[in-house]
Amino acid sequence: MRTLVTGSAGFIGGHVAAALEEAGHEVVGFDLRTGGDVRDREALDRVLGGVGAVVHQAAKVGLGVDVSDLPDYASANVLGTATLLAAMAGHGVGRLVLASSMVVYGEGAYECAAHGRVRPGPRAERDLARGRFEPRCPHCALPVGPVTIGEDAPADPRNAYATTKLAQEHLAANWARETGGTAVALRYHNVYGPGMPRDTPYAGVAAIFRSALEAGRAPRVFEDGRQLRDFVHVRDVALANLAALGGGTPGTLAAYNIASGQPHTVGEMAAALAAGHGGPAPVTTGEYRLGDVRHIVAGPERAAAELGFRAAVPFASGMAEFSTAPLG
Ligand code: UD1
Repeated sequence: MRTLVTGSAGFIGGHVAAALEEAGHEVVGFDLRTGGDVRDREALDRVLGGVGAVVHQAAKVGLGVDVSDLPDYASANVLGTATLLAAMAGHGVGRLVLASSMVVYGEGAYECAAHGRVRPGPRAERDLARGRFEPRCPHCALPVGPVTIGEDAPADPRNAYATTKLAQEHLAANWARETGGTAVALRYHNVYGPGMPRDTPYAGVAAIFRSALEAGRAPRVFEDGRQLRDFVHVRDVALANLAALGGGTPGTLAAYNIASGQPHTVGEMAAALAAGHGGPAPVTTGEYRLGDVRHIVAGPERAAAELGFRAAVPFASGMAEFSTAPLG
């Protein structure tokens, strides 16, 4: 199949394009870095002829700097996706795989001994400043423990990136309903691996730690280092995109967590990278960022059952490889 990959020159998009090519797709790359802007309808019209599916990875990512970033996020991610979907409809392209993110959930799910499953709101700055990092039950303020969150959990986007990723999902659902197209949203967890971009205000924690090690600096682990994430290897993410091209239901958007299913703390990740790189050892600083959520752990079961996707790269070998792999 002739398949358009947006963001094909990026970290994840590059791995996706390679995996699709290897599986026999005729990949048409489209990327801002090579002159392809998803907000440019004419540029899209030039590449969509004969395309059977679009794999949409192009996006402005990360946490951003501050609210001055809002227009850029809205433009690249919301206007860009809207323009792409309109162009797809114009060319009769009936299949979309969308790179979404676990950030649409906001804070993860927790269990309270008295109140069962709860979803705590944002943590108060006075708690963070005192080193009280664990969220508390929104009903009784007792300590709560993290549990996995499923795709049906209500969304709670906490920053511009999260809000625009959720908007992309909604736009894709609108497109599917209106056109009868098939849309699959992949909610990536913390993606890492070779070619990950270097340390910028928009980079994820694995890239920040890897860049620090390369510069001979210790990774700085925020909070107490016990916050949980699911680190999923970029080659697995690429294969999830391939699987998603065979999934979904016409007329709807289906969303899937794309995760390894093996959560680890940020402290463990820092230690694994530092060990693989030969030091320096991480330092736990107690710093915090107001926009961060504490734990986010989501089950990979639905992607396994419906897409047949299971991550294959184990944490230990994936981090060992990444600890010395080239950055983007
Ligand atoms: C990250 C991405 C998000 C993406 C998601 C899933 C960013 C900023 N966030 O969310 O866009 O959708 O993964 O792939 O790209 N931390 C440190 N030291 C640092 C930096 C961060 O300890 O130098 C900690 C943070 O406090 C946080 C954790 O690492 O607890 C994860 O941070 P980060 O990767 O930035 O954000 P996520 O919320 O995991």
